[in-house]
Amino acid sequence: MSFPTDRARRLRRTAALRRLVEQTRLHPADFVLPLFVKEGLVEPRDVVSMPGVQQHSLDSLRTVAGEAVAAGVGGLIVFGIPEHKDATGTQADAEDGIVQQALRALKGDIGDETVLMADLCLCEYTDHGHCGPLTTDRSTVDNDVTLMRYASVARAQVEAGADVVAPSGMMDGQVGVIRDAIDAAGYADRAILAYASKYSSAFYGPFRDAAESAPSFGDRRTYQMNPANGDEALREVFADLDQGADAVMVKPAGAYLDVIARVSDLVDVPVAAYQVSGEYAMIEAAAAQGWIERERAITESVTSIKRAGAQTILTYWATELALSLR
Ligand code: PBG
Repeated sequence: MSFPTDRARRLRRTAALRRLVEQTRLHPADFVLPLFVKEGLVEPRDVVSMPGVQQHSLDSLRTVAGEAVAAGVGGLIVFGIPEHKDATGTQADAEDGIVQQALRALKGDIGDETVLMADLCLCEYTDHGHCGPLTTDRSTVDNDVTLMRYASVARAQVEAGADVVAPSGMMDGQVGVIRDAIDAAGYADRAILAYASKYSSAFYGPFRDAAESAPSFGDRRTYQMNPANGDEALREVFADLDQGADAVMVKPAGAYLDVIARVSDLVDVPVAAYQVSGEYAMIEAAAAQGWIERERAITESVTSIKRAGAQTILTYWATELALSLR
């Protein structure tokens, strides 16, 4: 019988040893908090499928944003829900549209204390719930008509104070068109975080309640990626970098750690990952049943996303995690 000389357990023996050799550490600045602001609300409203997450009024939005900033989060990303929706999503780029109002208010409150991002898409603003205007036969989203809309939305968002615009509609050419539009408007200094590899995922289900953005017919498979494809994520990432993306995102995160790892191995820009609504809802639901240890599961899920290679994590637990790390 031969006993091992190589014993991995030696470095696990005490908490101090484990801490010394810990490779992945979380920091409050790693996290970006998604926030929903709904036009016409006077009180925040709970999102049933995302316990702990709310749709906000302008006032309550400012309160939770202030709490996130005080906790030290790296950024905020704002989603708007307008009262009036139409075929082309006109409220997305209206100067007094809800998201523009929110960006102006938050910029005034927080200045440059944290990074203010705007999700750039039309699904919350169109009456059919797709991410851009439809083709004349209404069978799918018209890519190039949508690009012109995104250019205008990007201008409105940077004018309202966004440090970063984050296009999430998965239209071909969206990053290039947005770069040109905001440069021409005098905002060459504003960054683009591209939702570069965004999959057509069942894990967005609860978000569509929060953002009231479920498509009224069909699905998003003609523009978002097939979950079965890995190489295509690289094609999307390099296309966005060619068009001027400053940072790239993989979304969802937990079921796509291989994609995060491949992307982060190959690019020299910051890589973000979005721990989406379904990932949040699964852990909260299991924890509420007593089937899983809530805090440990949250920390493990987020640590794994960082270990895979994402340096920035969009997560609905951003404030809670940041506070727990202080
Ligand atoms: C908008 C958008 C979506 C999410 C972020 N931006 C929904 C979608 O594509 O249907 C999902 C975020 C989440 O599930 O937490 N296009």
